[in-house]
Amino acid sequence: MGTATARANANIAFIKYWGNRDDRLRLPANPSISMNLGGLFAETTVRWEENLTADSFGLNGKEDTGAGLTRVVAHLDVLRRRLDIAQFARVESRNNFPTGAGIASSAAAFAALTVAGAAAAGAQLSERELTTIARLGSGSASRSVPTGFVEWYAADAHEESYAESFGTPNTWDIVDVIAVVSKAHKPVGSSAGHQSANTSDLQTARVAGAEERLRQCKQAILNHDFAAFADVVEHDSNLMHAVMMTSRPPLFYWLPPTLMIMDSVRQWRADGLRVCYTLDAGPNVHCICVREDAAVVSERLRASSEVLDVLIAPPGDGAQVLTVSIP
Ligand code: DP6
Repeated sequence: MGTATARANANIAFIKYWGNRDDRLRLPANPSISMNLGGLFAETTVRWEENLTADSFGLNGKEDTGAGLTRVVAHLDVLRRRLDIAQFARVESRNNFPTGAGIASSAAAFAALTVAGAAAAGAQLSERELTTIARLGSGSASRSVPTGFVEWYAADAHEESYAESFGTPNTWDIVDVIAVVSKAHKPVGSSAGHQSANTSDLQTARVAGAEERLRQCKQAILNHDFAAFADVVEHDSNLMHAVMMTSRPPLFYWLPPTLMIMDSVRQWRADGLRVCYTLDAGPNVHCICVREDAAVVSERLRASSEVLDVLIAPPGDGAQVLTVSIP
């Protein structure tokens, strides 16, 4: 048993994952697609060691003994069972994006933890299997394992709900310009949100149309058709937030500046900029634009007093092992 460090990028979904057909296995209600966010990553070191008497977890240099540790231990249990490991592990993880910037970190974190944990055990698992294991830690983490543009399949069986790449980072030169409007921790995390998705009457309709939207979105990406892309990406984000807002109890992730930026983005597009918005389970607005328009979009966002920070990410790679040492 040894030590390994892996890096995985965060990702932004264009067709969203919201709600599970099986919460324990994180088998999603619908398939989803995303782009890895180059430069916004988690780097995680796993050390399996005979002398340890328990798992432990450090995040950004601070020891986590609460809910974070519980989730990491549950994921280490998955790896222990699959790889027949009897030892405990020391896990250390760092995000390079500003902590608490409201950028979902669980996708990058569980992709990196999965890939580092397997490598540190000397295991050679297929990319497909790594995506299914990462999914058990956080659904969207399955999409941070393969490179570039990624589809995650919905299925009834663990092995069948995997993610795979349908485009490299060079497939389309688009950029995520993220307008950070709040750095507060979200009041209701994604895991609890997924579990309440079915309490919205709108979830059935959202799920029923997801495959068709996914087909349109994928085609728009592969054809570099920005108008078609913007139309389906904004619609899919609006549908997910409609489900959130109509769940019981309702989940409102938007803040006033969120709506203001969504409005501006639609206006800028009407004026000729190739930009559209999509939002995850939080108030920050991901403005997806073609590379040539990224500078002006980020300039306009920075000019707004409501915007605390702007992060820019091009399409990124899949998860990678950086170092392995097995004595
Ligand atoms: C709104 O993958 O964070 O970002 O499986 O409970 O960890 P858990 O949920 P998570 O959900 C992501 C939801 C989303 C949409 C998406 O990324 O597809």
